[in-house]
Amino acid sequence: MSHRPLVIVSNRGPVGHRFGDDGKPVPTPPAGGLATGLRPLLEEGTTWVAAAVSDADRAAVRDGGGRVEADGLAVRMLTFDPGMYRMAYDVVANASLWFLHHGLWDLPRRPAFDRHWFEAWDAFRAYNTAFAEVVAETAPGDAVVLVQDYHLPLVAEPLRRMRPTLATVHFSHTPFAGAEGILALPTEPAHELLGSMAQFDACGFHTARWAERFAAACAELDVGPPATFAAPLAPDVAGLQEVAAGAACDERLVELESILGDRAAIVRVDRLELSKNVLRGFLAYEALLERREDLRDRVVFVASLYPSREGVLDYLAYEQEVRGLARRINSRFGSSSWEPIVLDIGDDFPRSVAALRRYDVLLVNPLRDGLNLVAHEGPAVNERAGVVCLSREAGAFERLAPAVEAVHPFDVTQTAEALERALAIGPEQRRARAQELSHLIAAWTPRHWLDANLAAVPAP
Ligand code: G6P
Repeated sequence: MSHRPLVIVSNRGPVGHRFGDDGKPVPTPPAGGLATGLRPLLEEGTTWVAAAVSDADRAAVRDGGGRVEADGLAVRMLTFDPGMYRMAYDVVANASLWFLHHGLWDLPRRPAFDRHWFEAWDAFRAYNTAFAEVVAETAPGDAVVLVQDYHLPLVAEPLRRMRPTLATVHFSHTPFAGAEGILALPTEPAHELLGSMAQFDACGFHTARWAERFAAACAELDVGPPATFAAPLAPDVAGLQEVAAGAACDERLVELESILGDRAAIVRVDRLELSKNVLRGFLAYEALLERREDLRDRVVFVASLYPSREGVLDYLAYEQEVRGLARRINSRFGSSSWEPIVLDIGDDFPRSVAALRRYDVLLVNPLRDGLNLVAHEGPAVNERAGVVCLSREAGAFERLAPAVEAVHPFDVTQTAEALERALAIGPEQRRARAQELSHLIAAWTPRHWLDANLAAVPAP
């Protein structure tokens, strides 16, 4: 489509690092759907600007003089003072803007915007400005700059000042706070946020619903909105299928089969994340086991959860609640031969993919989700024509609705009924639905997403 050079800008880059046995930083594969989906599409000449997010990243940047190599891609990694980075990433991006856009705040208690928070907002602005400076230095005149997500909305304002004619797009991988939501932010930061976003040539969202909420927030604060577009991201199906076909995944599947035997599997694969609604998923399963005695010992709920954002206290507390609830349900219904919930908290990608290969029912019940890639990835590798139970509040629902069981994420009783229906669907209908899902998923690829971003900017 376009052969303009690309500059991709995101907090987490297309490569990470860990310390090897010799204490030297070793590259690790990309985490997250954006990097894995885009990587095969990026041509030579693409620059990716990202933050060093760990000590090992910072060491790699020191060794490489500011640049790190990611499989032929030029990556500019910005290092920040760790305290300043925590304020920008944990306090503002994760504990404030993520909560704002997903409606996660516990309003009687939080948020409380105190002096510490306003200092963090200053750090957030400085962190965004640092990205803008590197882009301004490196982007060729005809480049398209694709800025990703809620970490970096304030890049546009300084970038416009430094490079007024650069083509820029911002893409939100989250939902967006609507008119009511935006009013919860303090007045000046709210204006700064939307005022900066309005200076991108266009702002993209996974669905029209989030784009409309963004426009409504702009109208509420009297900010003239930029052009918007809706284009869902898509998973890297080929890469995922490669993992699914690998020996490590086969081994994990054998382990899983030895636990499951001939029982049905309800599976969830998620970051251990408040918006994913893990607790109500377990409560729905409990309600099902309570009512349907015949299902006891005939089904296992496999929850494969990987730790996330451990710098935010609410996430640590949430993990304790998740563990506690699983324990309670297991001791209420379990027996010496049957553990109703197999809770796996850890970072083992082949194990998660093995669970996706094996599910009879995949539960994806987020409270609110920009898109949700797991709902696409599951059907791409599942081997049993399993049924997907999908939250109406996930952006993915817009496209996949015809072939899934709809879940009301707050209604535990309805979720239990959706699980029950999904378990009861016969083989023929399962196959028909799985096929329909495959078609829906194959029809939209990362290439479509990238093209939609490029089409949103004016010609050079
Ligand atoms: C999820 C969200 C993205 C977000 C990413 C950040 O994938 O859907 O919107 O950018 O998490 O994750 P991190 O682990 O870097 O905080």
